[in-house]
Amino acid sequence: MIKFITETANYLKSKGFENSEIGIILGTGLGQLTNEIDIIKEVSYNHIPNFPTATVEFHKGKLMYGTLEGKKVVVMQGRFHVYEGYSLQDVSYPVRVMEKLGIKTLLVSNAAGAVNLNFKKGELMLIDDHINLQGSSPLAFKGVSALGERFTDMSQPYDAEINSKFKALAKDKGITLHEGVYASVVGPQLETRAEYRMLKIIGADAVGMSTVPEIIVANHLNMRAAAISVLTDECDPDNLKPVNIDEIIAMASKAEPEMIALFKALIKEL
Ligand code: HPA
Repeated sequence: MIKFITETANYLKSKGFENSEIGIILGTGLGQLTNEIDIIKEVSYNHIPNFPTATVEFHKGKLMYGTLEGKKVVVMQGRFHVYEGYSLQDVSYPVRVMEKLGIKTLLVSNAAGAVNLNFKKGELMLIDDHINLQGSSPLAFKGVSALGERFTDMSQPYDAEINSKFKALAKDKGITLHEGVYASVVGPQLETRAEYRMLKIIGADAVGMSTVPEIIVANHLNMRAAAISVLTDECDPDNLKPVNIDEIIAMASKAEPEMIALFKALIKEL
């Protein structure tokens, strides 16, 4: 895998991606942050050697390099999901490439369902901790030790300092920012009522189909990581309405400006 990562990073460097400080992964319906970036270079995923290729059409599937709030950033517009048929190693591969490009801090966004019914759709949740329900680990492969500690510590997977900054910024800006536990499932089907009940019982506040593999790999590589969920639907097992993916995407876009404001303000402070 080291050979592949190096090859991918070298390709991006040859395309003008230079040392960057911050990597950003944008979730479903959350691509508008890219409008705020002074883009220096962008490359479609399907042109990047060893990259998984984008399949779900609402993901634009581009890796961007540019300046945001005076910092050099690499941004994934659209990510890879296990539900598209990728392995956990594929899904988290771009994080390894980012690290190879010198990135030390990873910021992640996603769309998630609110399991904690005190949280409403359209609001944001800062991820404080997670539960991996994707059935395996992105670190479960031969040779992982060559890339970092196999038995990666997960006592604090989300950076405490970044999270306090996020909370202070949200307070300043009058943005509601809940804090909670994100559970990652495989999907792509949404949860049954019984599954939402279970998620609540095991301590999840939100549920989605991403983020956890990328965060595990960021921890494997000793990167600082933080993530915010945009809550797109309310998962009340006793009053469950059918959701449709278009509504989820529309709700993500509606809540997106607040997430963008927080990401920008944070990046300015980093
Ligand atoms: N479940 C899983 N993933 C999701 C949900 C949900 O309710 N909402 C947005 N992504």
